[in-house]
Amino acid sequence: MNIAARKEFSGQFTVPGDKSITHRAILFNAAAEGEAHIAGALLGEDCLSSASCMRALGAKVEISGADVRVIGTREFCDAPLLDCGNSGTTMRLLMGLLAGRGVHASLTGDASLSARPMERVARPLRLLGAEIEAENGHAPVTVFPARLHGYFVQTQVASAQVKSAVILAALGAAGETVVEEPLFTRDHTERMLAAMGADILAEGPRVTVRQSALRATDVNVPADISSAAYFLALGALRGEVVCKNVGVNPTRTGLLRVFDKMGVRYRLENERTECGEPVADIRVFRSPLRPLHMGAELVPSLIDELPVIAVLCAFAEGESVISGAEELKVKESDRIAATSAMLNALGGDCTPTEDGFIIRGKKTLAGGRVRSLKDHRIAMSGAVALAASERGGSIEDAECVNISFPGFYEMLAKGE
Ligand code: S3P
Repeated sequence: MNIAARKEFSGQFTVPGDKSITHRAILFNAAAEGEAHIAGALLGEDCLSSASCMRALGAKVEISGADVRVIGTREFCDAPLLDCGNSGTTMRLLMGLLAGRGVHASLTGDASLSARPMERVARPLRLLGAEIEAENGHAPVTVFPARLHGYFVQTQVASAQVKSAVILAALGAAGETVVEEPLFTRDHTERMLAAMGADILAEGPRVTVRQSALRATDVNVPADISSAAYFLALGALRGEVVCKNVGVNPTRTGLLRVFDKMGVRYRLENERTECGEPVADIRVFRSPLRPLHMGAELVPSLIDELPVIAVLCAFAEGESVISGAEELKVKESDRIAATSAMLNALGGDCTPTEDGFIIRGKKTLAGGRVRSLKDHRIAMSGAVALAASERGGSIEDAECVNISFPGFYEMLAKGE
């Protein structure tokens, strides 16, 4: 895929629905009583993996356009092979959802997903009595029928996927479960389950859950700030960009804190709440950038945006230091290595560290060839870097953007 260099980039964009919220709307409604409609769902490959797994377990998931109709089932059937594709969210949330439901299921994934850590989910679930096997801590993962009981779980990593798996298992566990995480991660699970009638009390990084049944609940999915980030970053570098109807849940808006630190001018417009989630339009203006210094505290609220934030740092004159982000190593690729290689291939100066990057920013990048490593976020961050570069260039394995953002290149071409 070729990406042209752009001196100007402006426009109004509605990026696809939030990936985290779409997964949850499908998975939770498929386990609930009744019928629900999901509007604005992301129909990227990851969320389609969640849909097909829930069908295999006995729920109805019908897709027409961006609308999804789900008819849930309280009794899952055994599933000898649930293919989660590239999707960590599907596999990890399913481990929790299935743990106490009397089913025998085996979860598999592609090469990237099979290399990602699953013991971090299996271990806390076993504290609730779950019987789960993960070969050397990786997929394939097998869930066996088991009776669960409440427990006080302190998670070792700040991961919304791990937290969500424990919460979902706790819905089927006798007694009370408390989950405490080291840093507050995205809370879409807590918000959605509360709306679906679960007995759940969320107090920041501490969540208390009791056994509950779920009622099907319609969801209006906001646009994904992680997808908007590519267009907002280009706006900050090359023009004025508005992204419409973006989810601005405070556990997801670390990008805006980074904009504050780097001197990016932006404002939120039409702020409102929809289905328990804050939503706004985000308008960004071309701005002179300052280098960035950030550490672990911000990481959970912008984990998926870090590759494109690194691209912004490459255009901010001076030294940026991003630390506390070792989780990047266990994403769809090792994103510390992949992001550094991408920036350096385009003429940037990025040193990978154990837990982040040191980036010596210049006014410009030359351009060149981006190796996406089939990681959607590396491909899209590379596209932003190329569009803002001197001479543009090309992306290898560019179609991996379909994991989270079908139509990305077409939307990019619409910028004025
Ligand atoms: C997600 C949580 C994050 C994020 C992923 C989606 C979720 O992963 O990187 O893209 O929907 O809960 P971790 O929880 O592993 O940090």
